[in-house]
Amino acid sequence: MKFPQFSMLPFLMVVVMLSLSGTTLSHPHWDFLHCLSLRLANYSTISKVIYVQNNPSYSSVLNASIHNTRFSTPATPKPFAIITPLKTSHVRSTLYCSKKHGFQLRIRSGGHDVEGLSYVSEIPFVILDLLNFRAIKVDTKNEVAWVQSGATLGELYYAIAAKTNTLAFPAGMCHTVGAGGHFSGGGYGTLFRKYGLAADNIIDARMIDVNGRILDRKSMGEDVFWAIRGGGGNTFGIVLAWKIKLVPVPAVVTVFTINKNLEQNATKIFHRWQYIAHKLPDDLFMNVWITKVNSSQAGMKTVQATFRGMLLGGVDELITLIQDKFPELGLAEENCNEMSWIESVLYFGGLPLQSVDILLDKNALPTLSFKAKSDYVKEPIPESGIEGLMSMFLEEEADNAVAMIAAFGGKMDDIPENELPYPHRAGNLFEATYIAQWTKEENAESGKYISWSRRLYSYMTPYVSKSPREAYVNYRDLDLGINNNDYTSYEQASIWGFKYFKNNFKRLVQVKTKVDPMNFFRNEQSIPPLLSPWKKKGN
Ligand code: FDA
Repeated sequence: MKFPQFSMLPFLMVVVMLSLSGTTLSHPHWDFLHCLSLRLANYSTISKVIYVQNNPSYSSVLNASIHNTRFSTPATPKPFAIITPLKTSHVRSTLYCSKKHGFQLRIRSGGHDVEGLSYVSEIPFVILDLLNFRAIKVDTKNEVAWVQSGATLGELYYAIAAKTNTLAFPAGMCHTVGAGGHFSGGGYGTLFRKYGLAADNIIDARMIDVNGRILDRKSMGEDVFWAIRGGGGNTFGIVLAWKIKLVPVPAVVTVFTINKNLEQNATKIFHRWQYIAHKLPDDLFMNVWITKVNSSQAGMKTVQATFRGMLLGGVDELITLIQDKFPELGLAEENCNEMSWIESVLYFGGLPLQSVDILLDKNALPTLSFKAKSDYVKEPIPESGIEGLMSMFLEEEADNAVAMIAAFGGKMDDIPENELPYPHRAGNLFEATYIAQWTKEENAESGKYISWSRRLYSYMTPYVSKSPREAYVNYRDLDLGINNNDYTSYEQASIWGFKYFKNNFKRLVQVKTKVDPMNFFRNEQSIPPLLSPWKKKGN
């Protein structure tokens, strides 16, 4: 009897694992597992890093970072394996074996991709899940931090606040969003009128390119460093970590919320808001959410505009400012609350204010199914236009819908359009994200909610940016166009590419052509190289 070669042992252990779980696999799958298990080398690592279908933990690992239950149905295509690397060499091995055996790689950090692209693919794929890459090192002396891509924004904010209450980071409002995808597309929240996007405040990064090289800002070069800060994820390489610049905040900020429904002049006040909000001092963040709510008349519904904001300063200053510039809002002290910046993160994230520990809880809020679409608005919408928008929220499909509208201006006006791939800077009054939402149980009826979001988008056409109709890549919308599974021409990708990136799309294509000419890192809306391999072969 011959003993198996030592180098075969890890693979045999995987075979045992698979046969115990009842998994049947075809050749390329075996080859991939063989390749990866040889490189991971020991059983204990393999069992913590590789999750194949039918592994008892496969579903929980897959579902742990699904933040849109539209993509959590039995019919949703599933990865053949989920790889959760513990260290950089595991990431490189996954990349190596995926390339070698022809599997598409979907990189997942926080899993908030609004079209599910970090965990769904129509062709055979593997998820590289960075859930173990969550380390955060905050250096208050130099006002910088290193954040690994799998860390959530909540974990980042928590880590900063654990050291100081006068530094912060200007990123998004939802605490479960991952740094990896968020920074890759721009990222904005309550501090963006003062300090710009998350991507504007990144000063270095650690990335693995398609050849497995580990690069930092210097070795990747300024073109690639430019592209990864806003050009969209899963395109230029696997970003392991980001070095960010922290920004000063006062020990006390003031937040406020005021609700106005249709009977309380919501339409007129929102109309007026459009002329004022983008011109207010950059210390003030302000947004409006439009939703359907119960009316004061029993059994009736109305539409509510919720005006929320935050001033980097005290309540007296806020009230004086708003009474002077926007008296129509009727802001009073009882609408305001002074708190620390980290408490404001809870406030805007819809979390209870009791304890900041909730920022570490990825399941603190329920997950829904949704479809998102975004617009940028450069001219105030006339009152009649707003009336139409409001009336669409009275429709049956809008029971859980929301339009999230954030005033631009401030620092965003000062940053040139080509500074980073994110081009939506000066000249925008606000960005609007329309979200149709429903429960997982209603997924069979998702079509009617998605149609509502498309009708709303169509209704907004006359009032929003044109040529191109701009959109925010972090609120990705596959209705704008998708790549083919094989060759995608520049012209085809331009349809959505110019909406997300305007003229920066051209430079993104050039960078992609240089760093990943064979288009290994790709998804339905990744930047294509100029001449992809299929085209070269004449297929
Ligand atoms: P996920 O892991 O799904 O990644 C998104 C994309 O980036 C995918 O294509 C993925 O493959 C790729 N990717 C992920 N990690 C990568 C890595 N390490 N290297 C290379 N590519 C990588 N936006 C905003 O600006 N402000 C806000 O306040 C919010 N709030 C918000 C709330 C909710 C509930 C949702 C669902 C979304 C938002 N967003 C947002 C949008 C959010 O910024 C956007 O969806 C991000 O891409 C999510 O990043 P994740 O890492 O969580 O997603």
